[in-house]
Amino acid sequence: MSESAFIEVDRVEKVFDVRRRTGFLKRELRRVRAVDAISFTVARGEMVGYIGPNGAGKSTTIKMLTGILTPSGGRLRVAGIDPSRERTRLAHRIGVVFGQRTTLWWDLPLIDSYRLMHRMYRIPDGRYRENLDRLVELLDLSALLDVPVRQLSLGQRMRGDIAAALLHDPEVLYLDEPTIGLDVVSKARVREFLRELNTERGTTVLLTTHDLQDIEQLCSRVMVIDHGRLVYDGALAGLHEAGESERTLVVDLERELPPVEVGEAARVVKVDGPRQWLAFPASESAAPLVARIAAEYPLVDLSVREPDIEAVIAKMLYSMGDTPKLPPDREPVRETVVPGPGNS
Ligand SMILES: Nc1ncnc2c1ncn2[C@@H]1O[C@H](COP(=O)(O)OP(=O)(O)O)[C@@H](O)[C@H]1O
Ligand SMILES: [Mg+2]
Repeated sequence: MSESAFIEVDRVEKVFDVRRRTGFLKRELRRVRAVDAISFTVARGEMVGYIGPNGAGKSTTIKMLTGILTPSGGRLRVAGIDPSRERTRLAHRIGVVFGQRTTLWWDLPLIDSYRLMHRMYRIPDGRYRENLDRLVELLDLSALLDVPVRQLSLGQRMRGDIAAALLHDPEVLYLDEPTIGLDVVSKARVREFLRELNTERGTTVLLTTHDLQDIEQLCSRVMVIDHGRLVYDGALAGLHEAGESERTLVVDLERELPPVEVGEAARVVKVDGPRQWLAFPASESAAPLVARIAAEYPLVDLSVREPDIEAVIAKMLYSMGDTPKLPPDREPVRETVVPGPGNS
């Protein structure tokens, strides 16, 4: 594998044996192939999105990359370290945030969690102070430091968790659904912070998300996992093309009018009184379309709706058939589950 690869994942698998009770004294053993022969590399300083439907294997991948779980097969290296063998040594070089779980002490004020981490990670005093000051400022935490974690809002807690993951200056940050359940303002804040972290400090970021906007605003590269298989690795635009996905422009006109006509740029898919819904290719900018409608129609208000991630992936898999779009040097996927319409 290439010299510059900071994260190396080579045909990694994770199989869970799940025992299920199916009746009196009856047990059934079921194998769940949560991650199925996945290969990819991430270079130092990259910011990569890792997306896929629920249960696709995203969290399992992240847990293997942190050493929480041991792979059932394949080879894994992060900064040259085998995560499950040297979990503690790796812990000093990585940071991890699980959106659905906090690493902070629930009953303690936020600052106490940071003090505990200072000791746990044996962060030199000067560096701790410096990092704490910077993170408190960038994540706007100063008013929250003395508040017990359980009293924080979800968005505040998430910012607190991100700071906790970065106090020891990790070279790579894994984020597992960091924006889940956050309001628009909190999401924007978290995204802005991550962008700065990546561009200014060169931190490598692997971001798992359900929100295509996270990827759109942050990642030049996206990997898609479905049923444990890596089915796409490339630019987000390419994903939209492969899936021919569409965004929706919702316009409110001054009054009820016949469907607006904008030629090839978009098509009206729904009209309800003065409100109209226009579908347009997700790979195109909405700006020219909006300008045209504003010039020709009495426009009052508008919003753009993103396609949801499940729809994009389902469409992509459907349009690809059996040939996933992977770079030529990657091992091809042996078979692909192709969800038909209404059968995903
Ligand atoms: N500890 C576990 N024991 C058994 N099955 C698991 C375990 N963790 C995850 N799984 C299964 O592995 C699959 C992938 O899960 P996960 O990695 O959490 O998906 P995602 O994060 O993409 O939603 C799912 O089918 C899930 O039920
Ligand atoms: Mg998950």
